[in-house]
Amino acid sequence: FHLDMDASEADKGTYPHYMLKEIDDQPAVMRKIVQTYFNEDGEPQIDGALLTDLKAADRLYIVAAGTSWHAGLVGAKLFERLAHVSAEAFVASEFAYDTPMLSEHPFFIFLSQSGETADSREVLTQIKAAGYHSLTLTNVQNSTLSREATYTMALEAGPEIAVASTKAYTAQIAVEAVIAKVLGETLGQDAARDFDLANQLGLVANGIQALVDQKEVFEEIAKNNFVDQRDAFYIGRGIDYALSLEASLKLKEITYIHSEGVAAGELKHGPIALIEAGTPVIGVITQAKTAGLTRSNLAETAARGSHIMTIVSKSLANAHDDIVLEDIDELLSPLLAIIPAQLISYYTSLLKGLDVDKPRNLAKSVTVQ
Ligand code: G6P
Repeated sequence: FHLDMDASEADKGTYPHYMLKEIDDQPAVMRKIVQTYFNEDGEPQIDGALLTDLKAADRLYIVAAGTSWHAGLVGAKLFERLAHVSAEAFVASEFAYDTPMLSEHPFFIFLSQSGETADSREVLTQIKAAGYHSLTLTNVQNSTLSREATYTMALEAGPEIAVASTKAYTAQIAVEAVIAKVLGETLGQDAARDFDLANQLGLVANGIQALVDQKEVFEEIAKNNFVDQRDAFYIGRGIDYALSLEASLKLKEITYIHSEGVAAGELKHGPIALIEAGTPVIGVITQAKTAGLTRSNLAETAARGSHIMTIVSKSLANAHDDIVLEDIDELLSPLLAIIPAQLISYYTSLLKGLDVDKPRNLAKSVTVQ
């Protein structure tokens, strides 16, 4: 497939792997998104016709695959909480052949790093034929999904070469936040008006930088707690559950460790049976409302012999926590919480001697259904 870039842009420079470079690119990507989508007054801007279509929608259908679907799960929460519009993220390959009942005025948002994923293209073809409007968020201008949707917005992440997606995930969430903020303000929602997104994305950029500046911490965790493991679990609730799915996908993609992202409350209904002595269970704790519950669920796995670790926002942290994230708005916490998971996966893959950038059986762009 065709990549819209010049060779120098995609150069990995002094980095041993594209994935590590792309992880490190993320603070700059956050700043680029602020530059691209905000005016001098710090107000986010989107296309006027797109905004008119979004305002008319009674429900947003986000359609995507893989990591982009995980970004959509977070996006749906942003749309509901900031804009008070019903939203749900769908797996494209499911939506295409098991189409859910549609609302009266649906609007479709396609998320795709490559803009070429066949499953998402199939859905776009179907909803276009039915006369519905759509927006594609993509990292590749002029890609098929970008050309064929009614509207398109760029992720501004720069070329992503490693098969395991990193900066496209954080870029997708940030751009979804831009759209949710503009839509919510237009709809008169206080939650959107009071949300200082430009400032928040600046804090996110600094928070990511603080994490990527301590890579040796994640290398140690990979060496001591992951390399020799067969299974691993990320657990969380709400937004932390959505994050857990992506964190777990990163691990399985490039380390071949069997990993699951589990809604913390569901552990007791099955997954806890898989816990053995030393099985890593990583608790993601960034939502004040559920922090205590997730901690109890972690303790339940520890009582069965798991090795528990925590990724926690500073305001919710205690002295025993392993990885502490800078405080940002809870809605944007995946933008920080994913970084430790990306780095732990990277170092585990490296230490296992695997092909970090080109894992077995996987492709960067999947153009078959
Ligand atoms: C492939 C890639 C994943 C990606 C998914 C969706 O499976 O390996 O990293 O998340 O496709 O790709 P898209 O380009 O549509 O975001």
